[in-house]
Amino acid sequence: MSCAGAELRINFSPGRVQLVQEEVLVPAQRVLVTGATGLLGRAVCREFQNAGWLVIGTGFRRARPRLLRCDLTDEDAVRGLLQEYTPDVIVHCAAERRPDVVERHTEAAVNLNVHATSTLAKEAATCGALLIYISSDYVFDGRNPPYGEDDSPNPLNVYGRSKLEGERETLRHCPGAVVLRVPVLFGEVESVMESAVTSLWTKVETTESCTLDHCQQRFPTDTRDVAAVCRKLSERARQDPSIRGLFHFSGKEQMTKYEMAVSIAQAFNLPSHHLIPLTEQPAAAAALRPINSQLNCSRLELLDLSVTPRPFGTAVTDALWPFTPDKRWRQTVFH
Ligand SMILES: NC(=O)c1ccc[n+]([C@@H]2O[C@H](COP(=O)([O-])OP(=O)(O)OC[C@H]3O[C@@H](n4cnc5c(N)ncnc54)[C@H](OP(=O)(O)O)[C@@H]3O)[C@@H](O)[C@H]2O)c1
Repeated sequence: MSCAGAELRINFSPGRVQLVQEEVLVPAQRVLVTGATGLLGRAVCREFQNAGWLVIGTGFRRARPRLLRCDLTDEDAVRGLLQEYTPDVIVHCAAERRPDVVERHTEAAVNLNVHATSTLAKEAATCGALLIYISSDYVFDGRNPPYGEDDSPNPLNVYGRSKLEGERETLRHCPGAVVLRVPVLFGEVESVMESAVTSLWTKVETTESCTLDHCQQRFPTDTRDVAAVCRKLSERARQDPSIRGLFHFSGKEQMTKYEMAVSIAQAFNLPSHHLIPLTEQPAAAAALRPINSQLNCSRLELLDLSVTPRPFGTAVTDALWPFTPDKRWRQTVFH
């Protein structure tokens, strides 16, 4: 597969040297994005597409036209996929990332988060593709933040353990791979419930009083910023083999769920007096979560591979405005 691109050539003809610009066919870099139907995968596909990459996106249950359907837990299917498309880069976003679901359906989650990752890493090493494995701040216990790449992980729940195992499988089978740990994500969503951040909209838009966690410190991160980091890492790592191993990227604003909800209310000029901060940790009915797993992102920053995160208020407005019922609000703000 190739695409047209401009190339500068020096023309040596007798008596003069001429610099000419010619339209030639140059091969596009190919990226395979797993989980392309998901929250992060969609943003990654768009980021690479906009930068002129040839994007091959895979989904599973939600796969639709222009995306490939591939069950990543099927080893033969993964092998066939890589042999057919021979990507330069793989951004592996597919995972079961809901901690409570992982707790209840551990075997299926481990199959995807660990075993499928292992297969992908072996195949990436065989075909010489750069593998970027998306991991999570939940590999840390949250007792001693901020966490650098060299700090010891100690996941509190099965999800965190499965992501850590996925990291280890990635680096064991594909030592040139990149592992990118990120915290809670939000971005363009198909429904507000798709992200733990945008789901707060349901609490904000009602006038009924409701309690929201005000203990666990989070660093909500825009998928567009993560996608940009993945592209920068891909471009640099293809040139510089020292770009490998663990990296951290995170939004900079520290917030509890309560603070995120108040910030959303402010962004949409809505009341927030019905939101009640809950300052006691809830009884552990669900999977345990770290209290503060802040990531130290200086490795990416020192290598100039980071991006400045969008401010939370602006980014969350971008994500939520399609769900505002008040058309007048949209007209006032956007037209
Ligand atoms: N979301 C967060 O807050 C967050 C925070 C930290 C880290 N992360 C990490 O970021 C990455 C992306 O997360 P996300 O939020 O984008 O996840 P997501 O929205 O839940 O998407 C999961 C993706 O995995 C695909 N998938 C599920 N089972 C599959 C299978 N058997 N074979 C192939 N694909 C399968 C899904 O495809 P279908 O829907 O088409 O079935 C979907 O595209 C994950 O590695 C996650 O651990 C996420």
